[in-house]
Parts: sequence; C-alpha cells; structure tokens
Amino acid sequence: MSKDIFPDYRGNMEYFCLGCGKRFPTDELHYTCPDCGGVFLLEDLNFDELKKTSGLEWRRIFDKRAASKNTALRGIFRFYELMAPVLNEDDIVYLGEGNTPVVASSDSLNERTGLRTAYKNDGQNPSASFKDRGMACAFSYLKSLTRAKGWDEILTVCASTGDTSAAAALYASYVGGPIKSVVILPQGKVTPAQLSQPLGSGATVLEVPGVFDDCMKVVEHLADNYRVALLNSKNAWRILGQESYAFEIAQWYDWDLDGKCVFVPIGNAGNVTAIMAGFLKLHALGVIEKLPRIFGVQSHHADPVYRYYSVEDPAEREFSPVKVTPSVAQAAMIGNPVSFPRVRHFAEKFEAIGGRDAFQVVQVTEQQIMDSMILANRNGHIACTQGGECLAGAARAKELGLVSDEETCVLDSTAHHLKFVDFQQMYFDNSFPADYEVTPDTSLANRPELVLSAEEKDRLPAEEFAKTTAEMVVSKLGLSKK
Ligand SMILES: Cc1ncc(COP(=O)(O)O)c(C=O)c1O
Ligand SMILES: [Zn+2]
Repeated sequence: MSKDIFPDYRGNMEYFCLGCGKRFPTDELHYTCPDCGGVFLLEDLNFDELKKTSGLEWRRIFDKRAASKNTALRGIFRFYELMAPVLNEDDIVYLGEGNTPVVASSDSLNERTGLRTAYKNDGQNPSASFKDRGMACAFSYLKSLTRAKGWDEILTVCASTGDTSAAAALYASYVGGPIKSVVILPQGKVTPAQLSQPLGSGATVLEVPGVFDDCMKVVEHLADNYRVALLNSKNAWRILGQESYAFEIAQWYDWDLDGKCVFVPIGNAGNVTAIMAGFLKLHALGVIEKLPRIFGVQSHHADPVYRYYSVEDPAEREFSPVKVTPSVAQAAMIGNPVSFPRVRHFAEKFEAIGGRDAFQVVQVTEQQIMDSMILANRNGHIACTQGGECLAGAARAKELGLVSDEETCVLDSTAHHLKFVDFQQMYFDNSFPADYEVTPDTSLANRPELVLSAEEKDRLPAEEFAKTTAEMVVSKLGLSKK
C-alpha cells in the first residue's frame, strides 16, 4: 500500500502577542507574552506562499488526504499547511482525532423544533470531546520541542472543567517518555466520567476547592514561576489544532458555506476563537468563497461574552468578568474567559468580511439547555449539555429573527452525551439543586422498570424462569401473538 507523501512545505511560525504586538520565535514554549502577559496567536509568516496554489487545488489536496492511510495526514493534520507546518512527519501524534461526522437532525427533531439543524458530533473524538483537536497539535509541537531541546522530563499541567484534563492525560500517556501529565480540577465540579478519564490515563490528579477560574489562577502561578508546559487554551498551539473544526465543516459541505450558521458554546472562548480563525484562513486562500455566520452561545449563569456583545455600539462595549452560578453546561461555566481578546480580534475580522451579523452571541437559560439536550437525544442524537446549549441557541436565534428558515444551523456537540449523564439523571429524577433553576418536563422522564424482584426469581423453578419472565414482559408491553 503506498502511503501519501508528507508535504515538503515549511512555514515560518511566530508567536504574535495580542496585548503589545511583539513577536517571538517558536523555538521556545511560550504560554503568554513574557513582556506583557497578553495572549498569543501563532502566525505563519510564509502564509502568502500558499496563495500561489489555487483554492480549487487546495480543496483537491485536502479531499484526497481525508482518505489517506498515512496517519500523520489523516486527522487534523490533513490541513497540515494551515496548521503547524513546522512539524516533521514523525512528530505528529495521531489518536484518531478529527474527521467527526456532521449528522443532519432527525425528521422528528426538526418537527419538534421547527429548525433546520445538524449536529457535528465532536464527542466522537478519542477522549470524547473536541479538546483532542487542540491536544493533538499541542503534543505534536511538544514532542518536537522535547527532542530538539533534549529534555529528559517535562510536566504538562492544565486546569480543567473536565474535558481538557481528559484529553491532556490521554495524549501525555500515549506520547510517554519525558512527558508526564498533571491536571488540576475544581473539587466536585467535574462529572464522574470526566474524573475517571485522567485517573485511567495515569495522570497526577489534583483537586482544588472552588470553580474552574480558581484552578486557572493556580496553574498560571505555576507557569509564571516553574518549568512546566501549560496546556490550557491560552496555549496557542491548542487554538491552532482546534481550527480543524472549521476546516472540517467547510469540507463536509463541499466548501460551500452559503446559508450555514455555526453555533458554538463559549466557556473559555478558545473553541469559538479557533473556529473563526480557521474559516478566515480558508477564505484568505480562496478555499471557501463565503464565510458562514458564527453564533456563540452562553448560559445566563455564565455569560460575560454575551454581555459584552449585547451592547450595540462597539465603542461603548466594556468587558467585565462575571461571577458564575451553577450551570448544566458545566464545561462552559467560566466567568473570565482567557481567550476573550482573541474573540474580539477575530470577530472584527469576521465582521469586516461578512458584515455586522457575521458574528453574534446569544444567551439561553439553563432550562432551555436541559430541555434541548433531552429533546435532541430522544430524537436520535448524542448531545452533551453544551450540545443542548447550541440547540437552545439556534432556537433563540430564530426567535429573535437572527436566522431564516432557509439557513442550516450547524450545532457543536462538543463532548459525548455519556460524559454528562448525571445531568440527564437529575432531569429524570427532578433532583436539580435549586440554583440550577431547572424544572424537568416530567413527561420526558425515563427510568428502568424491574420486571420481577430477585425474590420472585428465586421462587421460580429454573426451567420456568425464561417463560414466566417473558410473559411478564408481554403483559407490560401488551404484545399480541404472531
Ligand atoms: C465539552 C466542552 N464544551 C465546551 C467547552 C467550552 O469551550 P471553550 O472553553 O473553548 O469556550 C468546553 C471547555 O472546557 C468543554 O469541555
Ligand atoms: Zn505582549
């Protein structure tokens, strides 16, 4: 079997500080700007060389690689030239991330919502969330750096609402060698499934009382004072990897994004940043002719970005962090998003090309998020609570007249439903603590029913068990004979 040849194009990448505008070479691992503490973007100074190849030719190249057997070109790195074109083939870590499907909403869901939606199931990534996209890129870079520097040990550290640590721990345990993973979690604020992931991958798991924002302050202190590789989404290599989500949506729709509205939950705002950055790159190369419209979605319990953009006049807008209250969209329960400067940067660029309604943020209630998740999953989907948030966001956008019936809303289910089943359970049991402000629609509750008790089973002669139990099932279901 012939393997696709790895590209020979190499970029010239630099960190670019959004705070002070200074540039730094990428032969060091910078987390934030050493001069002003601002967040970085990574830029390829050779990017314009890529314009010598037509948009049509890039489409052909990316489409061909999507079927590649060369794992270094199969996942997010099939967009190698737009991603981190400073890495060598054997630096690239591939755990099957990317290439997640876009599933058109079932007829029954469309009937219920009156919307035209499709879910991109990013929960079908290896650690069951979109975070794997950024980790694949960050760990590939780290691998190349570790080799170049000859490091014999490097600790990767992250604060997390659950999914970042699951992804970081998985990739660290795969790459192994000098790379060891430490994750810092808010005690009791991640779901049991999410906690089990870094534990299973053998990471050092440290818990801190409080919320994500508290954990973030701890890891920032570590990064400022000790030699650790920070893997939160301030790390610009992660943003780069997450751009692949945008590339994949474009590819899925055959590079035609006319009439597409992309809904993204906003927590730390890394994902929405990356998605805008990705679409802008494709547009700059002529791979897509039209930008899609982007809708950020936030819960009323954690909505600093919504509040900022809800002020009409850009000159009047002022960013202030909010104090979060409990949210079922737990992974997005962040009051002071670190990537906010990046959002502002790319939103301006998006609006300059696509007009004022190219980037908007809508706010939804906790009730709407839960009802939407339950509804989506009862109608054939695998949405997490953030996926429910996106569906609620699409409904809200329609209600506000921001999307038309002709447009398709592409919803981001950022994680797999299975990571958030405890919220489903609270919905079915009507056991939400009051501060969530969620009252279940009890007609949607679903519980297992015991067919017969263990004592009844013991009393039955063994040879009668199957028939008697089957008859109990028949009477419960009201089955009629063939
Ligand atoms: C499942 C899930 N969805 C959404 C988000 C929010 O993404 P971001 O923090 O990049 O805005 C996160 C972040 O932790 C997440 O884990
Ligand atoms: Zn700076």
